[in-house]
Amino acid sequence: MARAFAPELLERLRAAKHVAVLTGAGVSAESGVPTFQGGFWGKYSPEEMATAAGFRKNPSLVWNWYGERRRELANVHPNPGHYALAQLEQRGVRCTVITQNIDGLHQKAGSTRVIELHGSLLRAKCFSCEAAAPAGWEQATQSPPPCAVCGSWLRPEVVWYGENLPPKAWDEALDASCECDLFFSIGTASQVYPAASLPQEALRAGVPVAEINPDYTPLTAAMTYVLRGPSGQVLPELLAATWPK
Ligand code: APR
Ligand code: ZN
Repeated sequence: MARAFAPELLERLRAAKHVAVLTGAGVSAESGVPTFQGGFWGKYSPEEMATAAGFRKNPSLVWNWYGERRRELANVHPNPGHYALAQLEQRGVRCTVITQNIDGLHQKAGSTRVIELHGSLLRAKCFSCEAAAPAGWEQATQSPPPCAVCGSWLRPEVVWYGENLPPKAWDEALDASCECDLFFSIGTASQVYPAASLPQEALRAGVPVAEINPDYTPLTAAMTYVLRGPSGQVLPELLAATWPK
């Protein structure tokens, strides 16, 4: 039986000119990428793998671990949830995807307006001077390779615990959240800030917010709409219900 959506939500989506979407690890779960709470760190801890202190302690281990995650991405493909978000643009909706994910799958699916709040596995920068790694850094044999500018280590360009979000990305995300006609919070546990404040800022600005998640989150009770289920199923069904053939 087809999932029932609130008719009002379908009308809002049909009428929307600008939709903002916050995504988390759950959106990539159906592509086979483990969520952070579901095994992403493997036998390691976020303290070891996702802090500057952890990197300083064991730079080679951390560099190689991210390298493995990056190489795995070659065999990881977007799922129907990613594609549904990309299709919104083909419907003429301006869709700002604000993602906490570092896997590049929204871009692979064809979304053109993607804000990466937590960086990307596909980029590296200097641990000290923050200069972007030069083209071809993936082929370097040293672990970690040296920065061409200052000689320090390269590191993955992902936001680790205790670090600030890229300011431009954050400003754009906040603007989109408050200016859009409809906001979706998809596949995120809504526990890591400041990302988790974006749906709350949208609500404060009077924007209706829909959560898509198989589970409850600390923000579920505040949501305008709650769509319970995996995003790879819910999103295509939502588009089909909004624009029936
Ligand atoms: N569809 C939608 N949501 C799903 C699915 C699915 N198929 N499978 C799991 N989820 C939901 C889970 O119920 C959970 O709420 O995805 C969420 C994943 O939570 P986390 O692993 O905590 O990921 P996320 O919220 O993206 O983490 C935020 O924390 O570890 C840091 O920087 C890291 O960007 C990350 C941030
Ligand atoms: Zn440097």
